[in-house]
Amino acid sequence: MKYFQNDLAIGLVATALATSYILILTFLLSDTHIAFLSTNSRWIVNANSGRRVKLACINWPGHMNPLVPEGLHKKPLRNITKDIATMGFNCVRLTWATEMFTNKAYANLTVAQSLERWNLTVIDALGHENLMVILDNHVSFPIWCCDWNDGNGFFKDLHFHPVEWVQGLSTVAKLYKGNPTVVAISLRNELRGPRQNEFDWYQFMEEDVLVIVSGLSFETDLTFLRQRKLNFGVNVNNKLVYEAHWYAFADPPEKWIFSTNEFCAEITEWFMSQTGYVIYERSPTPIFLSEFGKDQNGASEAENRYFICVMALLADKDLEWALWAMQGSYYLREGQVEWEEPYGMYSFAWDKIRNSSILQLMELNQQMIQDPTSEYASYYAMYHPQTGRCVSVNKNNVTTSSCHRLQRWGFEYDENGSRITLVGTSGCLTVVADKAPVKVTGDCSSQKSTWKFVSKSKMHLAARDEKGMDLCLEWDSLNSTIVTNKCLCLGDDLGDLPWCSQNPQTQWFKLILTNKHY
Ligand SMILES: *[C@@H]1O[C@H](CO)[C@@H](O)[C@H](O)[C@H]1NC(C)=O
Ligand SMILES: *[C@@H]1O[C@H](CO)[C@@H](O)[C@H](O)[C@H]1NC(C)=O
Ligand SMILES: *[C@@H]1O[C@H](CO)[C@@H](O)[C@H](O)[C@H]1NC(C)=O
Ligand SMILES: *[C@@H]1O[C@H](CO)[C@@H](O)[C@H](O)[C@H]1NC(C)=O
Ligand SMILES: *[C@@H]1O[C@H](CO)[C@@H](O)[C@H](O)[C@H]1NC(C)=O
Ligand SMILES: *[C@@H]1O[C@H](CO)[C@@H](O)[C@H](O)[C@H]1NC(C)=O
Ligand SMILES: *[C@@H]1O[C@H](CO)[C@@H](O)[C@H](O)[C@H]1NC(C)=O
Repeated sequence: MKYFQNDLAIGLVATALATSYILILTFLLSDTHIAFLSTNSRWIVNANSGRRVKLACINWPGHMNPLVPEGLHKKPLRNITKDIATMGFNCVRLTWATEMFTNKAYANLTVAQSLERWNLTVIDALGHENLMVILDNHVSFPIWCCDWNDGNGFFKDLHFHPVEWVQGLSTVAKLYKGNPTVVAISLRNELRGPRQNEFDWYQFMEEDVLVIVSGLSFETDLTFLRQRKLNFGVNVNNKLVYEAHWYAFADPPEKWIFSTNEFCAEITEWFMSQTGYVIYERSPTPIFLSEFGKDQNGASEAENRYFICVMALLADKDLEWALWAMQGSYYLREGQVEWEEPYGMYSFAWDKIRNSSILQLMELNQQMIQDPTSEYASYYAMYHPQTGRCVSVNKNNVTTSSCHRLQRWGFEYDENGSRITLVGTSGCLTVVADKAPVKVTGDCSSQKSTWKFVSKSKMHLAARDEKGMDLCLEWDSLNSTIVTNKCLCLGDDLGDLPWCSQNPQTQWFKLILTNKHY
């Protein structure tokens, strides 16, 4: 992760959505809850059973100056790992620096020895909670990542010696080979350069390496893959995963605030065309959104809105992801002791969850939404990303509830629009009147039950009332019910002044195709 360096504006723009190469490699794992991973089309799967394994991860940095995963002075290791599992994550992206494994001075660090002597082995403790671990080679020289000129960025930079990098990967690969908790290694954040001949380390791995390669350019994306696929010189079939990052700190905040609707649509489209498209290629590949996040103190309204936009996309495509981040603070960051991480799930003191509404927002995305090997019939969940809840019906009260137990909706469209049906009944979602609660009725053919997506974000659903006025579904938090109301901010695109002063996200609903069984 990178941000806030004043002199980095250009770099940030370039990298806000920078892609990273990752070479993910898995190990031959014994009979555990995970076994080793593989890919099948755009999905990551258990290589034995072929069943999908969804990654819903949290980042936990271990790559910084002290060379120890953050927070062990704040909270007992086992409490941290337990918390991670309790929060609903199933995996940790644990970042490491190459020199941790190659620099002799570090290799003999007593802190590492003493941690181990006391059985404070982070990976084992994570494994104890059935969490999967992705070892992420974040930097070579252990410091905060990623400054434009930190010498860690590219092959042959001051600290980034290709041979040493390979050596570090090989050491780590050997160290954790056969460890059932470690399911993947990502090669490097934002690696670039077509140096396939550097992948000699692969020889150390021999089998079952999830290799995912594509992006060559830090500044751009994965789009060049359309022209030329990378050749590893080894068989990486069914082992390749791509990685992308998406933060809001390079975006002008006013776009998120005053044109929320249009900007979400625009950025989502950009993400999909730059990186996400790989899931739809002729040979589809999984994409792992391995870093995204926001100030969890809610200090930035722009980031609050961005986060909801990201949640809608993640649910819609059911992508693999890793939130930045777990830590409430760093031992040391950029020269400052006890640097607070406002993006962290933990508070500064690591004694409580910073903002539990974030967990609520992630609830649907922590689940497997699409299970490609399930025979269970597909239906739609009606997701309201602003609250993280899903639309349900209780005695004809159309409200929201936890996305763990989904109300099944049908979505039938023809040339005039769509009907939103309650699966298993003959009922349809129907407008009653302006500002009144929406109802499920038997009137499925009138304009009051004919819904259209009326905004560019494709998250406003409108139907006409008797007077022919378009009314949008809206979450009414005062009455805890879904009403229909005047559609908000439909024309809030950047050229369309004045910008919208309301928050249209209260009216965002996404129909999510799922075959989740429970
Ligand atoms: C760690 O967990 C134990 C057992 O649940 C609990 O008693 C203890 O208070 C926790 N310690 C901290 C610092 O959270
Ligand atoms: C660490 O120290 C021991 C004993 O002093 C030495 O044998 C070993 O080679 C050192 N390891 C490295 C990587 O330098
Ligand atoms: C660490 O684990 C080993 C093996 O399980 C055990 O023998 C040893 O007693 C443990 N040490 C401590 C300090 O708990
Ligand atoms: C918590 O997060 C929510 C959702 O992003 C945000 O709206 C709110 O401002 C945050 N609240 C606090 C107290 O941090
Ligand atoms: C679409 O609307 C037109 C005009 O109201 C109507 O004649 C037609 O039957 C409708 N089509 C369907 C599939 O309902
Ligand atoms: C919703 O709540 C508002 C304010 O509490 C109230 O005036 C209004 O009548 C309620 N609407 C419905 C449909 O219950
Ligand atoms: C609808 O359901 C919600 C959630 O259970 C509840 O809070 C609300 O009071 C209900 N409204 C009506 C009108 O029954």
